[in-house]
Amino acid sequence: MFPDVRLRRLRYNPRVRDMVRETRLSVEDLIYPMFFDETIDRPREIPSMPGVSAYPVDMAAEAAAEVEALGIPAVMLFGVPAKKDDKGSGAWIEDGVVQRVTRSMKESDLVVIADLCLCEYTSHGHCGVVREGEIVNYETLELYARTAVSQAEAGADMIAPSGMMDGTIMVIRRALDDEGYHRIPIMSYAAKYASAFYGPFRDAADSAPQFGDRRSHQMDPANAREAIREVEMDISEGADIVMVKPALPYLDVIRDVKQLFNLPVAAYNVSGEYAMIKAAAANGWIDEERVVMESLASIKRAGADLILTYFAKDVARRLGD
Ligand code: PBG
Repeated sequence: MFPDVRLRRLRYNPRVRDMVRETRLSVEDLIYPMFFDETIDRPREIPSMPGVSAYPVDMAAEAAAEVEALGIPAVMLFGVPAKKDDKGSGAWIEDGVVQRVTRSMKESDLVVIADLCLCEYTSHGHCGVVREGEIVNYETLELYARTAVSQAEAGADMIAPSGMMDGTIMVIRRALDDEGYHRIPIMSYAAKYASAFYGPFRDAADSAPQFGDRRSHQMDPANAREAIREVEMDISEGADIVMVKPALPYLDVIRDVKQLFNLPVAAYNVSGEYAMIKAAAANGWIDEERVVMESLASIKRAGADLILTYFAKDVARRLGD
């Protein structure tokens, strides 16, 4: 007890503080989410996400080179198609936006992760096939399987299904294996909540539902034990990496998943988390750099091995200094 024990002893000297630091963020932990939009011919700034732009498809190689030069190992791709329809065919066609971008990124050494969902591609903005106001599971799974195969054909290094239909991982794993893509890992958005923090993303990806919401498939924010069931099922269906999303409001879930399962855990620091920090910093209310580093360290401390964040480029620059 005090005065024999003095915890401040390890805090006086900055070098000693560095030595005993328990959590270290490294550039290898980061995955940078990127938007590519077929309807534009120059970068489009996302108003609610200052510092983040959607790029035209023909800038893919250039944009990838910038990320790669910063030492960031991976990107997560989202596409905005020129045309939407009720089945989201833009998600799986051979010359779909993500497929084209993936092909142009093959020159780089980046790990190209394709987000797999239909909401950016459907005219109604839902994540699957809608019948009588309901998102129907089976038909949607068939489209997910086609999308996964077409993304793999285009050269994606990893597939990340985010649609939260039951059986997604099983169906995608089988489809990939049947087509000879048994080496392509699946990063499952396993515990994805029906969160209000996705607002700015839906502006960026033009994917807001035209009616209703996503609560019939995404999780209730109040539930943590259910997240464990989601993760358990996805692992049994063949997920290689499991994700919790959003990150900061769900650190308890990240912690639980890390403690209970022995596979890499990813956390998605989502658009709303980004926008809040940017807005407060723009007002001079917080120190952006320090708040970002503290937030990402917290996500890692909670148990995330990988962090998807729109701050990835800023952080990579900072870590490289
Ligand atoms: C669905 C998807 C969403 C996000 C990633 N994939 C939005 C949603 O479920 O409505 C959100 C990411 C973010 O907010 O940064 N394709």
